[in-house]
Amino acid sequence: MDYYLECVKCGCRFPSSYNKQTCGRCSSILEVIYKGNAKVPPSRNFWDYEKLMPKGKYKHYQVGSTKMIKSKRHSNLFLKVELTNPTKSFKDRGSVIEIAKAMEYGYNEIAVASTGNMAYSLAYYAKKEGIAVSVFIGRVANPDKLADILRMHDAKLHMVKGDFTKAQAYAAKYASTSGAFLSGDYCYRKEGQKTVGYEIAAQLPDATHIIVPVGNATLISGIYKALKDLRRCGTIKRMPKLVAVQAKGCAPLVKAFNSSSTVKYEAPKTSADAIAVGFPTFGDQAIEALHGTAGMAMMVTEKEMIREQKNIYEDHGMVVELASSATVAAFNKLALKKSDKVAAIISGGNV
Ligand code: F0G
Repeated sequence: MDYYLECVKCGCRFPSSYNKQTCGRCSSILEVIYKGNAKVPPSRNFWDYEKLMPKGKYKHYQVGSTKMIKSKRHSNLFLKVELTNPTKSFKDRGSVIEIAKAMEYGYNEIAVASTGNMAYSLAYYAKKEGIAVSVFIGRVANPDKLADILRMHDAKLHMVKGDFTKAQAYAAKYASTSGAFLSGDYCYRKEGQKTVGYEIAAQLPDATHIIVPVGNATLISGIYKALKDLRRCGTIKRMPKLVAVQAKGCAPLVKAFNSSSTVKYEAPKTSADAIAVGFPTFGDQAIEALHGTAGMAMMVTEKEMIREQKNIYEDHGMVVELASSATVAAFNKLALKKSDKVAAIISGGNV
């Protein structure tokens, strides 16, 4: 769909031909604003939602369209299994959009800061398109986790002394000096990742809650965007409550929401490395999503995540990341009615 980009901070607008993902005036993040109102098709297939994505030339890679399975342990819990994506996480949904945009704007290199999965995903598609990748990974994000995979995709790995937030600043600086396309948790990725929300609505139309693991909050704010589309189209009458989950050792969004304050940086101390993000880029938008759905935010402990990781393996034979089992750990803490139906996002399986 036709669109323009709008800065979330200063409101500055840029046409779709603008070839960056941050504001040219104040460097803040941008939001994709569509010029029309496309209908959300009743579908479980990623590319059926192309009309709700930024106009672009997309190669229809096999991404998304993931299954939802009923939990064997809890009768009102349904697992949205994102580890069947090609690089084993929901990140592929956003990467195919970002890579197509980088190509459209004529870039031959992208730069990305990541806790691991996003870099793996971008490197996978960049290699297919012959684009170079520079990856910035912080030490607390377990840089060993994906180092081998990134080597297979010829990505240039920059180890950053510090955490993801530091790596993010390095990636932005590198992009501005090298001329690489700054990629990662920015506006185009969000437009791909929001499709998780459309698919959940097609698979579990009467969902009362959607539990989402939060790092940069791109996924949760994207799902909120999808829920608004679904309500506009009359597909859903009442929005499911969004439940944001973070590890107790890194919960800046949960703390901000539960104390009605703004998001403040917190040094990550958790082994759920995928969501070890001290300052969520889309934090303000996530808070809006929680208010807009009468949602809630909760923390889970390392022990709780590890216990559910084992339970998911025992019940379903799936090896999932702690960022994924975090959602099931949060499910256990919800006060639910018998009639409630809860979707929990099992976001990744790179362990
Ligand atoms: N689950 C997994 C497996 C992830 O890799 C991430 C984020 C999240 C949940 C949280 O999603 O950031 O949109 O709130 N991983 C990023 C990365 C930060 O670099 O791979 P979010």
